Amino acid sequence: MNSISKHQVRILPSLLAADFSRLGEEAQRALSAGAHGLHADVMDGQFVPPITFGADITRAVVEATGARVDAHLMIVEPEKQIEAFAKAGVKGITVHVEATAHLHRVLGMIRDAGCEAGVSLNPATPVTESLRYVMPLVDRVLIMTVNPGWGGQKFIPEGLDKVHKVARLIEAHESNARLQVDGGVTPENAGVLVRHGADELVAGSAVYKGDVAANIAAFESQIRAALTV
Ligand code: DX5
Ligand code: ZN
Repeated sequence: MNSISKHQVRILPSLLAADFSRLGEEAQRALSAGAHGLHADVMDGQFVPPITFGADITRAVVEATGARVDAHLMIVEPEKQIEAFAKAGVKGITVHVEATAHLHRVLGMIRDAGCEAGVSLNPATPVTESLRYVMPLVDRVLIMTVNPGWGGQKFIPEGLDKVHKVARLIEAHESNARLQVDGGVTPENAGVLVRHGADELVAGSAVYKGDVAANIAAFESQIRAALTV
């Protein structure tokens, strides 16, 4: 089963696993080690139990690093926050299909605000019908391979099949959308994810636990190996 993406594979550290008291420094550390951007996990205490941070703190990271930052909104009624995150300077905004009754409208709002529009699926959410009708508005599909809310959880292996399915869907629509995987992603499963079509790997613990530069190098070598098979 091989559906390798036409895009360069990106490693996107999740700031959730960083030391929040030194966020700018932590973000920079990952970027200097070769990360292609940063992933900001926004949680509201409703869609998921924890509360993390919002647009103002995300803006501080954008301003401190000048890097590509994508906001992963694990919040209900994401439509209310699109403007604030766009103004914060993020490149992409990803919303959950389970969090809004008006997915098509929200994706349009994100694009109208000048950002890349992403749609995320929880582990138990099926693929085809939820995505088919919004594909023309999608720049990124995020497959959750843990239940959202916390870092450091174990990868749910059934997500692999979903990655493959979405890769085929993207291809069938001749879409340029990115295929992102988030949750329990490590150098050990990076290769198989890439071979199934993932081209953006989000990783929190596997980047920030221990030596950040060595961790990113481990991701890079697994990705390279997967692409040369
Ligand atoms: C989970 C978040 C993830 C999380 C990943 O709700 O969306 O981005 O930070 O953390 P790890 O890589 O530790 O599973
Ligand atoms: Zn995330």
